Amino acid sequence: AATTEIMQDILARHSVQEGPLLPILHSVQAEFGFIPSDVVQIIADHQNITRAEVHGVISFYHDFRDAPAGKHTIKICRAEACQAVGSNALSKRVLEKLGVDWGGTTANGAVTIEAVYCLGLCACGPAAMVDNKVVGRVDAAKLDKLLAEAGA
Ligand code: FES
Repeated sequence: AATTEIMQDILARHSVQEGPLLPILHSVQAEFGFIPSDVVQIIADHQNITRAEVHGVISFYHDFRDAPAGKHTIKICRAEACQAVGSNALSKRVLEKLGVDWGGTTANGAVTIEAVYCLGLCACGPAAMVDNKVVGRVDAAKLDKLLAEAGA
């Protein structure tokens, strides 16, 4: 269906809720896989707020993305236990290597790198998740291998 129709449907479904911005954004992302920029204006008009306000919410919550995700998503744990065993350095290295920021996707569209806050693998951190698979004890070499396998 056309974006306008999909949006009418999503907005209608949420019209009775109070403070429906978050649920609307979740529905939009479920529908499109990301929050398309032309949709931001539609939501802003509907909610009687500015585009900037909608953008603020989108960028505040890590769940929302403003561009389609890559073919694979690699999430790196940034919570305390993993930080204590080096996940920060690991993250820094991978972001620099790929030239992306958190939530960013490699230029070839293969891999999106996201932060995650605990994967329940604290005993064997640094932990990561490749698509739906959790991986423990991730070091630079292991991460390079995972990236290569994902086509980054
Ligand atoms: Fe990283 Fe729990 S802190 S898996």
